[in-house]
Amino acid sequence: MAGELRDWDIVSGVGITALGVAAARAVETSRPDPLVRDPYAADFVRAAESPVPMPTRAEEVDDDEYQWSIMSVFLGLRSRFLDEYLRDCVDTAGIRQVVVLAAGLDSRAFRLEWPEDTTVYEVDQPRVLEFKDEVLRRSGAEARCERRAVPVDLRDDWATALRDAGFDPKAPTAWLAEGLIMYLPEEVAERLLTTVHAHSEPGSAIAVEYMPGVRSALADSAAATLAERTGIDITSLLPDADYDPHVRLGELGWSVDEVTVAELAQRYGRTFDDEVSELAGNGRYLTARKR
Ligand SMILES: C[S@@+](CC[C@H](N)C(=O)[O-])C[C@H]1O[C@@H](n2cnc3c(N)ncnc32)[C@H](O)[C@@H]1O
Repeated sequence: MAGELRDWDIVSGVGITALGVAAARAVETSRPDPLVRDPYAADFVRAAESPVPMPTRAEEVDDDEYQWSIMSVFLGLRSRFLDEYLRDCVDTAGIRQVVVLAAGLDSRAFRLEWPEDTTVYEVDQPRVLEFKDEVLRRSGAEARCERRAVPVDLRDDWATALRDAGFDPKAPTAWLAEGLIMYLPEEVAERLLTTVHAHSEPGSAIAVEYMPGVRSALADSAAATLAERTGIDITSLLPDADYDPHVRLGELGWSVDEVTVAELAQRYGRTFDDEVSELAGNGRYLTARKR
């Protein structure tokens, strides 16, 4: 992964995956009936000096660049579902403390409506968050909640950094791990979940994206071609592990639900062609509640 690298910025290591998903959100945002409206995504892509070209609008994506069309559908589904998860945590469950693990260029603190007393913590590598803050500052973006950046490596003692930033372990929390767990070696993923568990009051919630068998899916020719076409060497960033957060959270006593990307496509009225199904159709989103 990310594995051996100690740190990275927005155009290197696993950092560039955050830029890639921002590009896909920008393309989806530019469509007439988008599943996500992320007004900052294009700013990030334009500001970064990416070694691989990335689009910001659907018009820039021609037939030769079908990988970005597919990615934008995938990111649209994922963003919409996880936006709804957070909405539900705040509106229905009354949670006011949110922790976005590996926030990357996630702009939810700026683009979603939050109750006034909500605090959103964004955890990621220092140079990724520095880039993000600089672009948002130049765009004149204003957070719609109390937003706190927590620059730390998730392989280190991130819980102390989170508490130092003001996190209250006695308050119920909505955790989000989007586009993260597949990049972590098994022992880091395990430590991440048990740390979340230890810092979660009953009533806390978590959403985790995971992709069983993603490495073997990427060994398949159509999926491999699709991934290669993004210009990001995704396979080299994935550890040789298949951590199952669903089973683990169940063992820790959380009640767990799950939905597949294919089910989301049906729910939100998008079609998936075969290539997407091979690569992303196996993707899953679990949502869990601590009893
Ligand atoms: C695919 S991006 C997802 C970003 C964001 N969650 C989203 O969906 O837009 C992966 C993110 O994980 C972060 N990440 C991966 N391993 C990490 C680690 N050990 N410590 C901190 N951040 C990490 C990267 O810096 C990157 O921002």
